[in-house]
Amino acid sequence: MTKDVKPAAAAKGAGKPAPATPAGAKRTVTVIDNATGRKWDYPVISGSVGPDVIDIRSFYSDSGMFTYDPGFTSTASCDSTITYIDGDAGILMYRGYPIEELVERCDFLEVCYLLLKGELPTADQKAKFVFDITHHSMVHEQLSAFYRGFRRDAHPMAVMCGVVGGLSAFYHDSTDITDPRQREIASYRLVAKMPTIAAWAYKYSIGQPFIYPVNSMGFAENFLHMMFATPCEPYKVSPVLSKAMDRILTLHADHEQNASTSTVRLSGSSDANPFACIAAGIASLWGPAHGGANEAVLKMLGEIGDHKNIPDFIKRVKDKKARLMGFGHRVYKNYDPRAKVMQRTCHEVLDELGLHDEPLLKLATELEKIALNDPYFVDRKLYPNVDFYSGIIFRAMGIPVAMFTPLFAVARTVGWVSQWNEMISDPGKRIGRPRQLYTGATTRHIPKKKG
Ligand code: CMC
Repeated sequence: MTKDVKPAAAAKGAGKPAPATPAGAKRTVTVIDNATGRKWDYPVISGSVGPDVIDIRSFYSDSGMFTYDPGFTSTASCDSTITYIDGDAGILMYRGYPIEELVERCDFLEVCYLLLKGELPTADQKAKFVFDITHHSMVHEQLSAFYRGFRRDAHPMAVMCGVVGGLSAFYHDSTDITDPRQREIASYRLVAKMPTIAAWAYKYSIGQPFIYPVNSMGFAENFLHMMFATPCEPYKVSPVLSKAMDRILTLHADHEQNASTSTVRLSGSSDANPFACIAAGIASLWGPAHGGANEAVLKMLGEIGDHKNIPDFIKRVKDKKARLMGFGHRVYKNYDPRAKVMQRTCHEVLDELGLHDEPLLKLATELEKIALNDPYFVDRKLYPNVDFYSGIIFRAMGIPVAMFTPLFAVARTVGWVSQWNEMISDPGKRIGRPRQLYTGATTRHIPKKKG
């Protein structure tokens, strides 16, 4: 963990330095039932950085009560060494390395290695890893027939849920989750095949032949090639665009216990196979409150249409009749650090493509300026998130809107498999089984039928 990261100065009360605990004493928190006067003490556990947690695992057996936290706003569901976010300071780190350094100094496959293994690779380790990932990028040929079962107008995320779930029917030799080597192979397969699967979902939707991966190409370059090449003529991927894509992949690679990652962990907690778990993650990512937001941003900008309509749109947002998509985040209550890098990348891509006067970017910039100065957004700490700019970049690159969220899935797969592996390797792993506050009918009886 980098030394210069300070614990979060988080919302209401969090981040205030805790009163010093006397040397040798363990810090505890006491829960008091004011009705009965009963008291229970719970230990406080500290991580390497970030808010402490209260270990309430025995709370139900002690008290007969559950804790209630829909939306998990105050609940740490696991411990993890992979990704750290300080939402108030706008910090994101993978394995201790700040995201800004990773996008500048590493390529996506180095970041994948870091997330999966905990350390950046040496030159030899990188060469082997690149070889392994590259040589897993082809999918079983029979899978190409699977695509033909979908309607041509199927959303590519629907195709991805199906095809990725279907991988477990093809790769039986990497579904034994108790074998670390099989887990490694499954992880490599998922990371390596996801660009092929996503690009083929696109090719299928436009009726073009599938383009196979090319082993001499880099990860991002290969993906763009499979998306845009045809067998009819050579296709050269722009190095600026493939570098931008590589950076975008790094920015989306992991984000601690978000909805899709928690879905992957919860699915995996029952010992389900990794392909099924990642398919579950893809399903969760699809929602517009999560990965589907990049698609929703473009839709929103299209609906606003012209800068003269911005004030009306902002009014509708404030009246809760619309949401400003690409703004706000459960954890970031400051500028999303990924959005900062995205904004820069966006300008580079538009320069390369000569699209600086792109009306959508102008509209987005104006919308951002207005929102950042409006008390509604300022008071609620609603800043642009990663999806605000990614949609514009993808569109400029010629990626169709329906492919935005599949691209997010391509990038996030390494985070999902890293988190899944971390959970499976934990000797203390238990099935995830939340409880509930039941508010339905109490016991009632079905009247006996007459006759
Ligand atoms: N536009 C307008 N108002 C908003 C927005 C928004 N985008 N986001 C939150 N608010 C308001 C909300 O109405 C509420 O106001 P009030 O206090 O008056 O009731 C307040 O801010 C708190 O909102 P919340 O819904 O309780 O916040 P949350 O933490 O549950 O939701 C969120 C987080 C990301 C789902 C939400 O901000 C949102 O829907 N944003 C738009 C969708 C989006 O861009 N999602 C991508 C997230 S980043 C990529 C990823 O990691 O998946």
